[in-house]
This record gives sequence, C-alpha cells and structure tokens, in this order.
Amino acid sequence: MNITVIGTGYVGLVSGVCYAELGNQVICVDKDPRKIAMLNAGGIPIYEPGLQELAAANREAGKLSFTGDLPSAVRQSDIIIIAVGTPPLPNGEANLAFIDQVALEIAEAMNGYKIIAVKSTVPVGTNERLAKLIRSKSDKVFDSISLPEFLREGSAIGDTLHPDRIIVGAECQRAADTMTELHKPLTEHIVVTDIRSAEMIKYASNAFLATKISFINEIANICEKVGADVTKVAEGMGYDKRIGPSFLKAGIGYGGSCFPKDTSALIQIAGHVDYEFKLLRSVVEVNQGQRFNVIRKLENIFDGKLEGKTVAVWGLAFKPNTDDVRDSPALEIIQHLVDNGVKVKAYDPIAMESFQALFGKEGVEWCHGALETARDADALCLLTEWDEFAKVDLLQLQNVLRQPILIDGRNVFNEEHLLGTDFIYYSVGRPNLN
Ligand code: UGA
Repeated sequence: MNITVIGTGYVGLVSGVCYAELGNQVICVDKDPRKIAMLNAGGIPIYEPGLQELAAANREAGKLSFTGDLPSAVRQSDIIIIAVGTPPLPNGEANLAFIDQVALEIAEAMNGYKIIAVKSTVPVGTNERLAKLIRSKSDKVFDSISLPEFLREGSAIGDTLHPDRIIVGAECQRAADTMTELHKPLTEHIVVTDIRSAEMIKYASNAFLATKISFINEIANICEKVGADVTKVAEGMGYDKRIGPSFLKAGIGYGGSCFPKDTSALIQIAGHVDYEFKLLRSVVEVNQGQRFNVIRKLENIFDGKLEGKTVAVWGLAFKPNTDDVRDSPALEIIQHLVDNGVKVKAYDPIAMESFQALFGKEGVEWCHGALETARDADALCLLTEWDEFAKVDLLQLQNVLRQPILIDGRNVFNEEHLLGTDFIYYSVGRPNLN
C-alpha cells in the first residue's frame, strides 16, 4: 500500500519505518527542514535502539523516503496517517493546533479517495471534528479513521512490529477492511470499533497503566512503614492473572511525554462532560508526590540539612533506553536540590544534552561517567535504571563517594549486591540497609 505519515516524532517515524518494513511504500513528512535533511542524510532525530538501521535498510530498498513536501506526498498515497504532536496546554487539555493545520493542508492537496487516519493521541470527538474540517475545504471522498498508538519509547520497534493489539476506529467498512488488511501481518488481535471508542481506548489504557504505577507506589510507601518488601508484594500480586506482573515496579513515579499528558487530558475530557474523574486525579497527585520521596530520604539522612552537601545523580531520562527527558522526575528533583543549596553532580548515558536543553546548563556539574559523578559526593541518587548503573562495582563506588550513601529510586540493587559493602542504602518500598 502507499502510505504517507505526517510528523516524524517518535510515533510517526517509528510507524513509518515499520510500515515500510512490512513491504509498503512509505513517505514520511515533516515541516521541519532540519529534521528532513538529517533523515535524508541517514541520521535519526531521536534516540531509539535499532531505528537508524531499520530506516537505512528500508531507504536503500526504496520503500521509505522523507520529504517536507506534504501536498506531493498526499497526492502519491492512498492512506494518510497523522502523527503530529498534541502537547498539553497550560490547563492540561491537548493542543490540537498541529492536527488542525495538517488537516487543512491535506484537504487542499487531496486528489482522490484517501483514508485519513489519526495516530496522534486526541480527545474523544477530534476525528469527527477533523472530518468536518476537511469536508469544509475539499469535495474529495475520504474516510476518517482513529488508529491509536501503543508503542513505548525505548522498545518502539518491537512494540510496533509485535503489538498486543491494533485498534481501528472506523465508521465505514471499506476503510476498516483496508486497515485490517494493512495490520494483519502484525497481530490477530485487531479490534474494529466506532471512532469515539477507539479514541477512548487510548486514554483509558494509559490512564490504567498510570493507575497501576501510582497504586504500587502507594503500596511501596506503606511497605516502608510496616517493614514489608514491595518487590515481593508485586511479585506475589502479579501471579494473579487478573492483576498481571507488569507496571507494578515501584519507583519515583512515571514521567515522559505520554502518561502525564494523557492523564491530565482525560481529567479534562471528563470535566467537559461534567464528570469528575476522582481516581485519576489521585493517581496524578500520588505521582507528583512520589518523586519527592528521594528528597525526603536525603533530608532524613542529613537531619534536614541539605545545604552545602554534594549530591550525585545517576540518570536524567524518564526511563532507560531513551534520551527523552520530558516530565522526567529528575527535572524537579535536581531543581529542588539546587534551590536548597545542594551542589549537584549529574550524569546520564544518553540524555545529557536533551536534559540540558530543558533544564539549562547552569547550576549543575555535568559529568561523563558513573564513577566520576559519584566522586566526593555525600550521597548518590539513582533516578533512571540504565543497565550501566547496575554493572558498577559497588566497592569501587563506595571508595569514590565521600559518604557511602545510596538512594536507589528504582530498586536496581538488593541486599545481595550490597553484601560486603558499608552502604547506607535506601530504596523504594523495601527495608533500609545500614
Ligand atoms: C507509554 C505506554 O506504555 C505506551 O503504551 C503508550 O503508547 C505511550 O505511553 C504513549 O502514549 O505514547 P512510554 O511513556 O514510552 O509509553 O513509557 P513506559 O515504558 O510506559 O513508561 C512510562 C513511565 O512509567 C516511565 O517513567 C517509567 O519509569 C514508569 N514506570 C513504568 C514505572 O514507574 N513503573 C512501572 O512498573 C512501569
């Protein structure tokens, strides 16, 4: 099939590359000429394991191309997939300006029947509104589809090529059949439904996953007080098939460009129909508080006197295997430390530049390796569970730290690892070791 994907962010780029990998003819469009130049030169504007190689192979095979010319791409394709960003507005609602703009450009360029699918996460009713917008500018026949995306950063290719399910929101059989045909090689679980339900499935899924995380984080907080171990509690819960083992890792809370944005947006969507989503409000509130547990633990250790201390931070990305720092808990944790007179040394294997772009370069000593970061620090906080950190020799680590204090925000280490060391060790929802 001939497909145009508009927007070369995480979702658009990974989807485009994977549709090409499936044997389709794909054109990826972006309005940012720097991105297109980079992609055409064989580069990739995001860090995603395996993506660069897969894009190169499909370009060489003549199945994938990149352009800034939206009208020409639309004219050459039967299926148009919109994957532009829907960043949050200050009130938490999704900003649909990019989607609207793209819809108008598609309308102007259409030269025949098209399927127009929206992969961006959009509030319920957006697809219908877009269809109206396009219809007001073009008399060409088209079908509107909601095609929500469930890939995770860091494992985006695997998630796209082996999805748990594909959701197709369609009002017309012809378009539903084409989309089923397109995705049949990926999974047998293709749920075809009405457009509004498809839009809702995306928000409900992310909200549910966020709920699981906040739930286990609260259980962890209670575990700390009653002397239980949350990793064991999660393991024990997870064997129950009705609960499942995933998304029960306690830590410093969720971040990233999806859960924070989508939970806020769903609270707004509910609010617009006079429904207060109390549970989800609490999920967000718990998540916001969870990151500050790291600070509380430091204050506890240093009797409330953080000023003048040196604190090393391992990990800036919101999770490993990505350079994405949007809504990363590290942003607020480091800001709080800096504001309270703490000298912060920080390091991330991949996300240093993106973090500095958001946080600024001032006020923090940026380091180049795990041990160098820890050198002469009064305490070390692990905020992202990169493999590199798990592999550090703990005796060496103990020797470079001024005080062997480790706050493990992701439960990377355990009692066994620490055997034979003098670490004062605080983790999440597990007994402290000291
Ligand atoms: C999430 C969803 O998992 C995807 O299905 C969805 O497509 C995507 O949002 C989106 O809406 O685009 P992503 O944000 O890339 O994907 O990352 P996740 O792996 O889901 O992690 C999100 C956050 O939750 C991270 O900060 C992670 O550290 C945290 N997390 C995750 C936990 O604290 N505990 C867990 O058990 C799992």
